[in-house]
Amino acid sequence: MTNRQAPPSELFATPLAKYRLDDGKLVEALERAAWALEDADEAGGQWCDNEGYDGYTSYASLDDLPTRDPAFAALKTWLDACAAKFAEALYWDMDGRKLALDALWVNILGEGGSHSGHIHPNSVISGTLYIVMPQGAGALKFEDPRLPMMMAAPPVKADAPEPAKRFVYRTPDAGTALFWESWLRHEVSPHRSETPRISISFNYSLEAG
Ligand SMILES: [Fe+2]
Repeated sequence: MTNRQAPPSELFATPLAKYRLDDGKLVEALERAAWALEDADEAGGQWCDNEGYDGYTSYASLDDLPTRDPAFAALKTWLDACAAKFAEALYWDMDGRKLALDALWVNILGEGGSHSGHIHPNSVISGTLYIVMPQGAGALKFEDPRLPMMMAAPPVKADAPEPAKRFVYRTPDAGTALFWESWLRHEVSPHRSETPRISISFNYSLEAG
């Protein structure tokens, strides 16, 4: 008796989208704008000192980046278009709803800095645009959202294909943005370069249309 059958179906995929910002001048302008914030944002600097953040983030101190610098305004326009494309890729029925950028913040991570595992509550789409990613830049690590349910499952083999892995790593080039659904847990691995790792992160929420 044989047991011939097709490979198992892959159900409940977790999309991770990659979009390329093909505008080197804008990427450079965003880098300058990030450093200008780091220089001027005393409340943010204080927050980073208090929280032990190894570098600078505007996450807790500034919520109006698109009005502070035209580079952030241009970025918002581009991100809005990407978010709409991602919603299409997710087959979301947007009838009567629209995506709204409700958070946009800069991260300048110094050598040895990292960001432990987290999700982005109260949002539907999250992501990051990478601005400066030197050799040794901390990788972004995604975690299988079903991990808490895998009580007795063994680990997977080292050569398992990416869809079967429990953790997936990405180290995007400058000018690349990654988009994912906000419930997807992720972390930034330790940054191993004297050159700071600069990125701009964002959240989209759903609003009534
Ligand atoms: Fe995050």
